[in-house]
Amino acid sequence: MVDTRNPQVREMDIDRPCAARIYDAFLGGGHNFGSERNFVERLEHELPGIGEVYRENRAFLRRTVEYLLAHGVRQFLDLGSGIPTIGHVHEVARRRTRDFRVLYVDNEPLTVAHSKPLLASEPRVEIIRADCRDPESILNSPEAAELLNLDEPVGLLMTAVLHFVPDPDDPAALVETYRDAVVPGSHLVISHLSGSHDPDAMRILADHYAETADPVYPRDTGWIGKLLGDFVVPPPGTTCLADWRPEPGLTGASRPYRVLYGGVGRKA
Ligand SMILES: C[S@@+](CC[C@H](N)C(=O)[O-])C[C@H]1O[C@@H](n2cnc3c(N)ncnc32)[C@H](O)[C@@H]1O
Repeated sequence: MVDTRNPQVREMDIDRPCAARIYDAFLGGGHNFGSERNFVERLEHELPGIGEVYRENRAFLRRTVEYLLAHGVRQFLDLGSGIPTIGHVHEVARRRTRDFRVLYVDNEPLTVAHSKPLLASEPRVEIIRADCRDPESILNSPEAAELLNLDEPVGLLMTAVLHFVPDPDDPAALVETYRDAVVPGSHLVISHLSGSHDPDAMRILADHYAETADPVYPRDTGWIGKLLGDFVVPPPGTTCLADWRPEPGLTGASRPYRVLYGGVGRKA
């Protein structure tokens, strides 16, 4: 049986669209190919304005990283980080402080290859090719040893990644392993696809992703909320992303699709 947790199993595949480059295309980045641009066009045709969902996730990531920085977090482990072009974690952190460290992790080979030169001039930022389903290899990596001090609070970022982890790989147990690995004061940020609020849009989205290298597994909002375990969840709790501490005038009610759900928790 193939061990899907082995990051080496994921081969380079530029014929099928992949999640990292689809996301990059929706965000207006330049690290995507024709297959992803076709995917974007087809999805936009079925779900006009769907690009807003991708931007909403990115805006949620920014607001939550700002929240963590305001609560003293200075080191981030970003699992399923994607291509670091538009509004990545180190860019958000740099606006607030010079004292920060970020370890990015992605299992898509070309994403990591594209990321390395983009990050080469960043002294406190690194990306490794690894699978988030293998916490030990990530937490025990030389890069983690160099960049992260696990005796101090960590910002664990799992945004728009867990819906790529199928049920047999037990994503809830996986998140628990990461929660257990960090000290009090650490924070966990989750965003995850869900059909609880908008099942029709979610079905169309999932059908399209089923043809890509990264099928998605949407889950209900109750299940997603439990990923924060016994962490203390600040207001507004777990919500549709657009409703998590929105900028004035930008609440979820004004959004066309409510398929992303998440929140933040702090280890007491
Ligand atoms: C939609 S992007 C999200 C990027 C970023 N986390 C954000 O929220 O802005 C999802 C990323 O997760 C990566 N990914 C999917 N499954 C993964 C896994 N099992 N381990 C590590 N990365 C994974 C994909 O390659 C992709 O780059």
